[in-house]
Formats: sequence, C-alpha cells, structure tokens
Amino acid sequence: MYRLLFTQVLRRFDAEAVHHATVRALALLSTLPLLKRLLHRFLAPSDPALRVTAFGVHFPGPLGLAAGFDKDAACAEALSAFGFGHVEVGTITAHAQPGNPRPRLFRDLRQHAVVNRMGFNNAGAHAAARRLRRTRGVPVVVGVNIGKTKVVPESEAVADYVTSAKELAPLADYLVVNVSSPNTPGLRNLQAVELLRPLLAAVKEVADSTPRRTPLLVKIAPDLADADVDAVADLALELGLDGIIATNTTIRHAGESGGLSGRPLKERSIEVLRRLRARVGDRLTLVSVGGVEDVDDVWERLLAGATLVQGYTGMIYGGPLWASRIHRQLSRRLRRHATTVPAMIGRTAR
Ligand SMILES: Cc1cc2nc3c(=O)[nH]c(=O)nc-3n(C[C@H](O)[C@H](O)[C@H](O)COP(=O)(O)O)c2cc1C
Repeated sequence: MYRLLFTQVLRRFDAEAVHHATVRALALLSTLPLLKRLLHRFLAPSDPALRVTAFGVHFPGPLGLAAGFDKDAACAEALSAFGFGHVEVGTITAHAQPGNPRPRLFRDLRQHAVVNRMGFNNAGAHAAARRLRRTRGVPVVVGVNIGKTKVVPESEAVADYVTSAKELAPLADYLVVNVSSPNTPGLRNLQAVELLRPLLAAVKEVADSTPRRTPLLVKIAPDLADADVDAVADLALELGLDGIIATNTTIRHAGESGGLSGRPLKERSIEVLRRLRARVGDRLTLVSVGGVEDVDDVWERLLAGATLVQGYTGMIYGGPLWASRIHRQLSRRLRRHATTVPAMIGRTAR
C-alpha cells in the first residue's frame, strides 16, 4: 500500500516538501491525545522479549529513529506512537540556523538511498528545550543529538556544544555529541582525538551534573579510518562515555554532494559496528545505524553487538508502519527461538 503511494505519488514531489508535510502531520497528531494513545496501543512494541535496558534507560524495543528526522523535537510522541522504541531528536545547535540552500535532499530510488546536505537546519537549543518540556501523553524515550552552530569557529566549538548541553541534557534520556555530519564545514575534524577529548570532557561535565546524570554518547562517521574508529573507542572508554552511535552518512559516493544514507551504507556500518565491538566488548553501549531496512538487518546488528539499532532512510522507503512492522517481526522471531533481545546482543561477536 505504502509502496504504491510512494512510487505513484510521493516520489513525484520534492523530497523535503514531503518531509515537512509529514512532520507537520505528526506534530498535529502529537497534540491529539486520544488518537495518539490509540495508535500507541496498537503500534508500539509491547512484547517483553523486545525490551532492552541501556545505560540505565529502559527501551520498549531496540529499533529507534535516527537523528535528522525530528530536528526540532516537534513530533517525538507521535513517532513513538507509530512504533519507534526511541526517537533521537536533532541535530540541535546552540543557535537557530537555516541550513544550506535548497534543494538539499535527494532520493536515489534505484539504490534505496538518500543524499542530504541539510546543514543542521533547526530552531536552536532554546526552542527545542521548550518543546521537550511539554508533558507527554504516551511514553517516549528521547535522545537529544547536539552539533556545532555553523557560524561558530572551530576554536569556539566546545563552548557552543556546552551551551546546547546545558539547555538540553536535563531534558534528554540520553545526549549525543554529533561530530560526524558532513554538511557543517570542519565538523568532522572534531573527531580527531586531540580535539574530541576536550569537547567530550566538557559536555560530559554538563551531562553528569543533571539530577539523573544524563548518559552521553558520541556519533561517528563511516568514513573514519579503522585506526581512528579504534582511537575514538579508546577515548570513549577513557572518558567514561556511555556509548557510541555508528554511523552517520558517508561522503564516499558519486553524484550530488552531501551525505549518503540507506542501502549502500549497510556494509560499512556493520563493519564499523564489528570493529567497535571487538575493541570495547560490552563496556560501551553500541548503537548501530546505517542501511537498516528490515528485521534481518536488526537481527544481524544485535548479534554483532549492538544494544540499540536506528534507522531513517529505511522508513522513507518502508513507510509509516516500518518500525512497528519490524518490531512485530522481531518479536515473532524471538519467540520462535525462545529468546529475548538482551540475550541476543553480541552472540556472534568475537
Ligand atoms: C535527511 C537526513 C538528515 C539527517 N540529519 C542528521 C542530523 O541532523 N544529525 C545526525 O546525527 N544525523 C543525521 N542524519 C543521519 C542519520 O541519523 C543516520 O545516521 C544515517 O542516515 C544512516 O542511517 P540510515 O541509512 O538508516 O538513514 C540524517 C540523515 C538523513 C537521511
């Protein structure tokens, strides 16, 4: 049904226009308590076998929505009602910014991929904090992903992230330092350990000072050399971070400039996950993202050592029931194997 709608109608419209219309509809749904609760009842993961706990936070299912869809924390509740086990909002920057000129979002239907160069368009940390403070009608686990404001020079990046962290860490179930998006000039340089150490240490101090101590993760690019993946993993351990999200989009592709996501990213994303697991074992929570399309992908990531799995492009091609469907299929598979998500994590890891 969704495939028909997508191939016959949606693909004819500008990708970003479809995106904004969807977010507006979901934001409206977030204000309708009865409908929201009804959807949540039927679509949200409810099988106890799907439940997983990471860094002290309870997730109803392992599959969440990756950052970049709900950039302004406008519709996390509705997304939870549609079956996501968590929603990572953002990337949010300390100051509001418009992002790059349009067009900046492109579909590649043949490859089930997307290229984007959005450039962190968002209304800023203060506006997001106001939205996150609203009471919630349905349970939703919210991760908050923060990045650098474009006009802030690299030399002032730490202060810029700290501003966002102070606004948002108290409102987040977990906080993510994003240093891996390809569309803010210089951002990915912050992945170099000598720049990353002071940045993560400063944000961690803020995250640690909230009443509940907000868990802190770092999100990395698939384009890091293997040695640099190891170096970030070692640094995360050294600083006592809670986890690593791997991976963001890749710039290794032909065509429109920007970050590529979806099916072509799958192989490298899994490779980075396996590498991280071999390095850190279960001392850090690993969140695997990149090219997740179906229940087989989620299963594979869990076995390889991911505690949580995220997707974004898979939903563009799979439709609004994508997460709910995968959780249902995963639940059936777990029952067939008489097991649970926590028992599957890292089963095939070295
Ligand atoms: C349109 C779009 C916008 C994105 N924006 C962000 C962002 O703001 N921050 C971020 O950390 N990742 C962002 N991402 C990356 C995703 O969170 C994810 O890491 C990446 O798309 C790989 O997952 P996928 O193949 O399931 O899409 C974006 C991805 C897309 C497609």
